[in-house]
Amino acid sequence: MQRVLRFPKGFLWGTASSSYQCEGGNTNNQWYRWEQQGHILSGEQCEGASNWWEQAERDFELAEQMENNALRLSLEWSRIEPEEGHWDGSALERYRIMLTDLRKRRMKPMVTLHHFTEPLWFADRGGFSNEANIRFFVRYAKHVVETLRDLCDFWMTINEPNVYAIQGYELGAFPPGEQNIARTLSVSRTLLQAHVEAFYAIRRIQPEAQIGYCLHYRLFDPANPLSPLDRSAASLQEMLFNWSALQAAESGRFPFPASTLLPPIVKAAGTRDFHGVNYYTRNMVRFDPTVPAEVFGRRLVRRNTRRNDPGLDENFGEIYPEGLYRVLKAVHQRTRGNKPLYITENGFSDAQDDRRPHAILEHLAMTHRAIRTGVPVRGYLHWSLVDNFEWNNGWQVRFGLIEIDPYTQERFPRRSASMYGEVARANAITEEIVERYAPEAVESIFGRMQGLPLIV
Ligand code: BGC
Repeated sequence: MQRVLRFPKGFLWGTASSSYQCEGGNTNNQWYRWEQQGHILSGEQCEGASNWWEQAERDFELAEQMENNALRLSLEWSRIEPEEGHWDGSALERYRIMLTDLRKRRMKPMVTLHHFTEPLWFADRGGFSNEANIRFFVRYAKHVVETLRDLCDFWMTINEPNVYAIQGYELGAFPPGEQNIARTLSVSRTLLQAHVEAFYAIRRIQPEAQIGYCLHYRLFDPANPLSPLDRSAASLQEMLFNWSALQAAESGRFPFPASTLLPPIVKAAGTRDFHGVNYYTRNMVRFDPTVPAEVFGRRLVRRNTRRNDPGLDENFGEIYPEGLYRVLKAVHQRTRGNKPLYITENGFSDAQDDRRPHAILEHLAMTHRAIRTGVPVRGYLHWSLVDNFEWNNGWQVRFGLIEIDPYTQERFPRRSASMYGEVARANAITEEIVERYAPEAVESIFGRMQGLPLIV
């Protein structure tokens, strides 16, 4: 008999993307300046990106063919408010057309208000390193929601405040390129406070909307599980990267010792209707007294394991499906099961598409396992629909279900795209699909499901 892992009725199948990475022509934000300063490791420039500003609809059509019923994108604040206090109605009109198109194709628009980029004028005022700037973000959020609420009822305020703060202010790898731990902490706090204030503002304008934000969760395991030093270095990294932001957003207080430096977040409790989970990979951590900036934990990629294409900064690492299960369980437990979860990003850099079909199926099987053990996961958004401009790595890593030639803008759907379409259509992983796309995964996917209750 065919074995099948069926997903709950109404499960959302979609993809995720961001404005800077897909639209093209965004020359009024701090990432454009970063590019001009020569920080893109490949020396490329984002320029036309995946050409969504002109032609997003042709990719929406490909998503529709995959029978997706959701699509996550972000709005570009620097287009909507190019100068402080000046709104560009034509930019919002373009988004109106895009969101209307998605709805016509029966895809639920899921909209992020801030996905790493912000207008130059805002960055020049100190961005989120200055708490007084929160009001600008809230004003922008209000303006957008007032204008587009008839088309969208699912808002993510800020994408990955933990990545934005750590990459921009601790590691210096994203703009503004600082390396300052105290600033990292205060920027994290300001971002979460900005989320809270935007949450209340949106709630007032659109009481029925689902409002939340997305955190990036990474697994950190000890390089040598028998070494107490490796174990504590790994759990410290995990606490700092994953749980301190989640705990602060839930309770208003950062864990010790950050709590001694940072004032609590005001009115944080209850300011999300769902947990947005972005998950990609895990690191192994080895205690190393020579890396104080990484709190004495050197991050390594496990040997002899399936990997993503490395990228120029070697940041993409291991393909580790069980990590998604562990993260979903941990988020659910740490939040005492208070809200539904959405996987708002999960993806693989695999230009040849020779690991992605298997990887997607295994991550979906882990999602299914989490659901069967009681975690209310309501949707899966794959990063990404089409190849796009991957921040400092430019076009050197490819996350798309659909390949793009950035020079001709031609589209070439990868095998993963047809596979993802079949899964979405069936609302299930069937043994037949796994056999066709990743026969080597049949046992790992269906073998371990025995004994768990079925989803009906
Ligand atoms: C970000 C995306 C990025 C992806 C792959 C996530 O942290 O939200 O913008 O493309 O990782 O690196």
